[in-house]
Amino acid sequence: MDHFLTTARLGFRCWREDDLPLAAELWGDPIVMALMGGPVAPDRVKARLAQEIVRMRDLGIQYWPFFLLEGGRFAGCAGMRPREHPAADDGRSYQMGYHLLPFFWGQGIATEAALAVIDHAFGSLGVEALFAAHHPLNIRSANVLLKLGFVAVGEELYPPTGLMHPTYRLLRGHNAGSLHCDSLFPMEKTVHDVKQPD
Ligand SMILES: CC(C)(COP(=O)(O)OP(=O)(O)OC[C@H]1O[C@@H](n2cnc3c(N)ncnc32)[C@H](O)[C@@H]1OP(=O)(O)O)[C@@H](O)C(=O)NCCC(=O)NCCS
Repeated sequence: MDHFLTTARLGFRCWREDDLPLAAELWGDPIVMALMGGPVAPDRVKARLAQEIVRMRDLGIQYWPFFLLEGGRFAGCAGMRPREHPAADDGRSYQMGYHLLPFFWGQGIATEAALAVIDHAFGSLGVEALFAAHHPLNIRSANVLLKLGFVAVGEELYPPTGLMHPTYRLLRGHNAGSLHCDSLFPMEKTVHDVKQPD
C-alpha cells in the first residue's frame, strides 16, 4: 500500500480518481453526514473527490483517506482544507476535519487519525495553526477536539448547515500529545512552497 503516513493502526494515502466507491460510501452515508449538512448526492460525490485531488496537487493538503493496517479496510478520512474566512492574524493555518465510517466509531480511531494529521501538519508541512469546528450537537467531535488540546475560540457560520458552529484552534507546540507516526514518504513540498488559498 502506498501509505505516506502510518499510526499504530492506520495507514494514510492520497485520494485517487478510482476511489469513487470509497468516497460515496463515506460522504453518501446519512449517519456520517448527519451533522454536516446531510449526505452528499451521488452526482456530487465525484465533484467532491475531484476537489480533494486538486487540493493535494495545488496545496499539498486534502482530507486523506485512511485504512486499517490490519486487513486494509477503508475507515474514513482526516486532513486539512483551506479556511473559508481566515482572519488576518491566523498565520499559516488550515481547517482540520475527520470523517469516520460508523462501524469504526468508539474505538479511538478518529483521535488517532487526527493526531497523525496534526503531527504531519506541524511537522513536515510547517503549518502554524489548525482550526476545527463542529455542529453544536456534535458531542463526539467536540470530545475529539478537546482530547487533542484544541481550544474554543468562538463560532463560525458553516454554510452547509446554515448554523454557527463552535470553532477551535490549536497552535503549533500546543498539541496535547504526539503519537509516533512514520512518514514513509515524507512529502517534499511544504505549505510554504505551495500556493496559499485566496
Ligand atoms: C466525530 C467522529 C469522528 C468521532 O469518532 P469517535 O469514534 O467518537 O472518536 P474517537 O476516535 O475519539 O473514539 C472515542 C471513544 O473510543 C473509545 N475507545 C475505544 N478503544 C479506544 C482506544 N484504543 N483508544 C482510544 N479510545 C478508545 C473511547 O472510549 C473514546 O471515548 P472517550 O474519549 O469518551 O473515552 C465520528 O463520530 C464521525 O466520524 N462522525 C461523523 C463525521 C463528523 O461528524 N465529523 C466531524 C465533523 S466536525
